Amino acid sequence: MPYNKEMSDTRWPKDVGIIAMEVYFPSQYVDQEDLEICDGVSKGKYTIGLGQAKMGFCTDREDINSLCLTVVQRLMERNQLSYDSIGRLEVGTETIIDKSKSVKTVLMQLFQDSGNTSIEGVDTVNACFGGTSALFNAVNWIESSSWDGRYAVVVTGDIAVYAKGNARPTGGGGALAMLLGPNAPLVFERGLRAIHMQHAYDFFKPNLSSEYPVVDGKLSVQCYLDALDKCYKRYCDKVLRNGLEDVVSLEHFDYICFHTPFCKLVQKSVGRLMLNDFLQESNPDTDEGCRYAGLDAFRGIKLEDTFHNKEVEKACVKCSKEQFEKKTKPSLLLANNVGNMYTPSLYGGLASVIASASLADLVNKRIGLFSYGSGLAASMFSLRVSSDASVGSRLYKLKASLDDLNKRLDQRKCVSAKEFTALMDHRERTHHLCDYTPQGSIEDLFPGTYYLTQVDHMHRRQYQRKPLVDFEQTPSPECNTYLLSSPPSKKPVRNHIKNTMVSVVNEVVN
Ligand code: ACO
Repeated sequence: MPYNKEMSDTRWPKDVGIIAMEVYFPSQYVDQEDLEICDGVSKGKYTIGLGQAKMGFCTDREDINSLCLTVVQRLMERNQLSYDSIGRLEVGTETIIDKSKSVKTVLMQLFQDSGNTSIEGVDTVNACFGGTSALFNAVNWIESSSWDGRYAVVVTGDIAVYAKGNARPTGGGGALAMLLGPNAPLVFERGLRAIHMQHAYDFFKPNLSSEYPVVDGKLSVQCYLDALDKCYKRYCDKVLRNGLEDVVSLEHFDYICFHTPFCKLVQKSVGRLMLNDFLQESNPDTDEGCRYAGLDAFRGIKLEDTFHNKEVEKACVKCSKEQFEKKTKPSLLLANNVGNMYTPSLYGGLASVIASASLADLVNKRIGLFSYGSGLAASMFSLRVSSDASVGSRLYKLKASLDDLNKRLDQRKCVSAKEFTALMDHRERTHHLCDYTPQGSIEDLFPGTYYLTQVDHMHRRQYQRKPLVDFEQTPSPECNTYLLSSPPSKKPVRNHIKNTMVSVVNEVVN
């Protein structure tokens, strides 16, 4: 049924979307230049060729459960939310440590004190797309007859690690939680969700005892670009059908974020959208200084014949440079500094835009998003930023909560490529062991981070939380070094250690 604005205004809650976001990334990273030297590849391959500066990684102290515990608890704390205000919680991840028990059920421990067990949703899996599917589920729930007026929380999280070799520099890791509800500052545009799904063996994880995927890198890039073409076409068709524009092109978006396996692919993707626009036009202007300058030789070319055509790629990247700089580069802050976080990658791009742009540059803007998960599942959709940026508004608060991203990135510890490789080898040897005590440093973790203390003989996992010291109270890296290495607070500590297998909250109270 076509989108019906009248129906939307009367039957559905208004402005459903993202109200708050919380980003968590590991407290250590490896420098990609150092990794180039250590891996013996030519200088510039990872930094210029792939466009990556730093790669975050986790030691054996963190797993998918701990990442999600950390990010959800921080989302709740920083937004002063009560645990009984949540009616749906789901997790998108491809980091599987249990074939049956969902991460969502582990997160239910955070709700224990509130007594709230009436919470829909479980985990959703398909490579980097699981988070998007979880997000769509949450939006659908809020717009359905099942909605009971409470918030939804969507958690995306992954540890993205590859075996030694050419894919390893495209790893990363982290988690991102989103609070959803009506009257949001980032509103999902109704009727504009485009989907492409297909069977492909481009990247998959058939070896259940290994953290590493099997990856056909070149095929995965081709599948990504093909999915982008298809989703963009379908998205544009929906915009036209809904009568929002007469002609749709890149101009439709003020910002556009992509799933980001590595930054160079995203720059090429903007070029790819420009190629799509060019091929759609009946008489595109390719003269010097015009929109499609440099593309004249490619009139009538078929999109499917261009995936490996470096000439087309270069011309499109050049021609779309201005659009890329303005609309997409601000989204690459986290991807460039943390790497591919898998399911959180796209939403890390969104958080980066909010953090990088001024409030004035955000109000009333349209943000396009392209989600891709190998195997494959993909979508293009868009968000409209609210027009209310007044002090204390939800947009104001969302932006304020993300303004410390750069500072937090600077507070991480740089680990040498040699040490990183040793830590990866250790992770590889100890992955999925039972009766295991992790070895990684607790001191190096950010305050407020949950970490794994023990995996018992039945593979049951126990976690503790590092006492929380607000990031806002850590004005400089030097100060943070002190905080990270300081002994545990002597203030009274309230332990909510339940008679379950996991102790989840170890919070400092005044
Ligand atoms: N200086 C500058 N650039 C260089 C240098 C150098 N010294 N050496 C190489 N390059 C360039 C190359 O020309 C190439 O750029 P181009 O593609 O624009 O021509 C780029 O660096 C990468 O070099 P390749 O030889 O193509 O890299 P390789 O094939 O070794 O690996 C790949 C790249 C396939 C992306 C690999 O890292 C991988 O498999 N990653 C995981 C899969 C992935 O991320 N897929 C994306 C979608 S699916 C997902 O999200 C998981």
